[in-house]
Amino acid sequence: MEKAQANIRIKELRDILNDASRRYYVENMPTMSDYEFDMLLKELEALEAEYPEMVTPDSPTQKVGSDLAEAKPSKRKGIEPRKEFEQYPHRYPMLSLGNTYDISEVQAFADRAAKGIPAEETEKVPFSFSCELKFDGTAICLTYQKGKLTRALTRGDGTIGDDVTENVKHISNIPQTLQGTDWPEEFEIRGEIYMPWAAFDRLNLEREKDEEQPFANPRNAASGSLKLVDSSMVANRGLECTLYHMLGEDLPYSTHDEALSKAAEWGLPISDLRKVCKSIEEIEEFINLWDTERKTLPFATDGIVIKVNQMQYQEELGYTAKFPRWAVAYKFKAEQALTRLNSIDYQVGRTGAVTPVANLEPVLLSGTIVKRASLHNADQMEILDIHVGDYVYVEKGGEIIPKITGVELSQRPADAELPHFPTTCPDCGATLVRDEQEAKAFCPNQSGCPTQIKGKLVHFLSRKAMNVIAGDATIDQLYNKGLVWNPADFYELEKEHLLGLEGWKDRSAERFLNSLEESKKTPFEKVLFALGIRHVGETTAKSMARHFKNIDAMATATREDLLAVDDIGEVIADSVLAYFADGVNTDTIDRLKAAGLRFEVEKEAEALSEALKGKTIVISGNFSISRDEMKALIAAHGGKNSGSVSGKTAFLLAGEKAGPEKLKKAESLGIRIIDEKTFMEEFLGEIPDQVVNDDNFKETLF
Ligand code: IVH
Repeated sequence: MEKAQANIRIKELRDILNDASRRYYVENMPTMSDYEFDMLLKELEALEAEYPEMVTPDSPTQKVGSDLAEAKPSKRKGIEPRKEFEQYPHRYPMLSLGNTYDISEVQAFADRAAKGIPAEETEKVPFSFSCELKFDGTAICLTYQKGKLTRALTRGDGTIGDDVTENVKHISNIPQTLQGTDWPEEFEIRGEIYMPWAAFDRLNLEREKDEEQPFANPRNAASGSLKLVDSSMVANRGLECTLYHMLGEDLPYSTHDEALSKAAEWGLPISDLRKVCKSIEEIEEFINLWDTERKTLPFATDGIVIKVNQMQYQEELGYTAKFPRWAVAYKFKAEQALTRLNSIDYQVGRTGAVTPVANLEPVLLSGTIVKRASLHNADQMEILDIHVGDYVYVEKGGEIIPKITGVELSQRPADAELPHFPTTCPDCGATLVRDEQEAKAFCPNQSGCPTQIKGKLVHFLSRKAMNVIAGDATIDQLYNKGLVWNPADFYELEKEHLLGLEGWKDRSAERFLNSLEESKKTPFEKVLFALGIRHVGETTAKSMARHFKNIDAMATATREDLLAVDDIGEVIADSVLAYFADGVNTDTIDRLKAAGLRFEVEKEAEALSEALKGKTIVISGNFSISRDEMKALIAAHGGKNSGSVSGKTAFLLAGEKAGPEKLKKAESLGIRIIDEKTFMEEFLGEIPDQVVNDDNFKETLF
């Protein structure tokens, strides 16, 4: 390629790759497959090799993809909440791996590695390779000091990472204390946090039911979950960890395999699906075995990692700016199947979104029979130029619903028909509207479209909302008889109404009514979620409830007020505004209030004092109690927690290992920095008697 032309293509490739990398690592919304990404990266590498003068330090070929949150939180829809984490430098850079889809390049790697070490050394200590599964999750670096887990950092940009220690403590197979005694005083161990298929399927089913954007694959689900705002929610996501690389000063192990076996003895999660191989044939055998067997594993693997086993050779081979020279990843290609597209259904969801779903000629893919596939939206159908009757490629990139990735035009039958995305709702006939931002068609008839109404009623009573025992069939029955149309109607039901329905008896009617009565105690955040405001999932409802404290403050909030809430972006803010602007909704809320549902957070029963009233406090570092507990303590004494230091900050409460950025900012703004002890003494030391001693109480009474 001519130099000028190469220059243009290089710039173009860098833009594409940087954008794809941000979508992948930061937003957890990949825009292309790993394979496409790797091929574009290879094209860029080849061009930069031809024109080395064009290599810049910030080229995607020179740095690892960064998962650090951007300064400004993403406002894109469906992005998982992200908290501002403290960031700390990595003791040793956290690099990526060179990868290939070509077995001959694995051979070349093995040759290169062996040739990099003088023969007299390899004669004494023979070369071997540790072959391991490549876990498809998100990288983590754990530090253990004196047998205790002291810090967990994400890869970040490879140099600094986000401190996710609190969240990692909620992952059940990561020990906070090691067994045995022969662990090094201090060491790091790196690995992957991943989400097994079962947990991923469960999470996505829930998200789809709640009309929240499902995660594209378990890797994105793992990385989004690891960065959840509420540490305790991490525990429910079913994350697991596997560790594969120990680092430290003068570790007393001669091989990588020995270090991992030791780590396993201390109770650390180490996969035993690994093998020390002495020849390229053995490596190939391992690769071939897992290319088939991986389909039976309960978690996603996207390849095999081949590492030089001897620590001394690893050290001698060293690193490039991006990769170790002692390891390489062989990646598996995503499995594809070719099958016929028989028809397309257009499904209406609870919020009115109309989604095209492909009905396929059943075909075997990654061990399961696939009959349906997602077509996402009208744009996607157009891009694919899909016709009913076409032979289409289906891929299971990790999603529960496989996706159609292409059309085999050479097999298009003469009678293949161009599908027409409906212009009216397949359920109620209303003219569909298009939401440009989401490239989706919506049925606007929110209060008249049966599917939407029933969907909202089902959601309202669901386990994570009002938790009322009622199946979809009951709701169908009540709706069809004209007894419920609006969630508030449930609370006006009487036993006679139910007994008049087919199949209802005294006991079942009482049980249902009792369950409804019980549901009146449901906390505000769940009631808010139950309302089914578009884009307000469980987590957003929680943040909003915490922020506004009651529904009236929420209903009168301006767009700016809404945007000030953690995790709320423009799309959610607009949807909340639209919800409260609709009289049907505010009437429903009034009726639900009258029925006795909770529309405010519990009166701060645990409010301990007003010692911190009017003070905005930023905390950083570790305390004698967890950070969440410290925040709760501040709130219980009337203070306001904030994530970032500004002119409004009353003081920075700095614990052990407080974030250097926050300390610097506080210093530069002249904000007071105090430690935990001073905080307790100065602000919480002289709290008026809050605990009534039972005995004294009796004494004064009698
Ligand atoms: S070793 C310095 N081993 O794959 C090399 N990495 O695409 C450290 N990964 O950044 C990595 N399974 O996050 C290693 N058995 C395994 C792995 C593994 C998954 C991840 C890791 C790495 C990425 C590169």
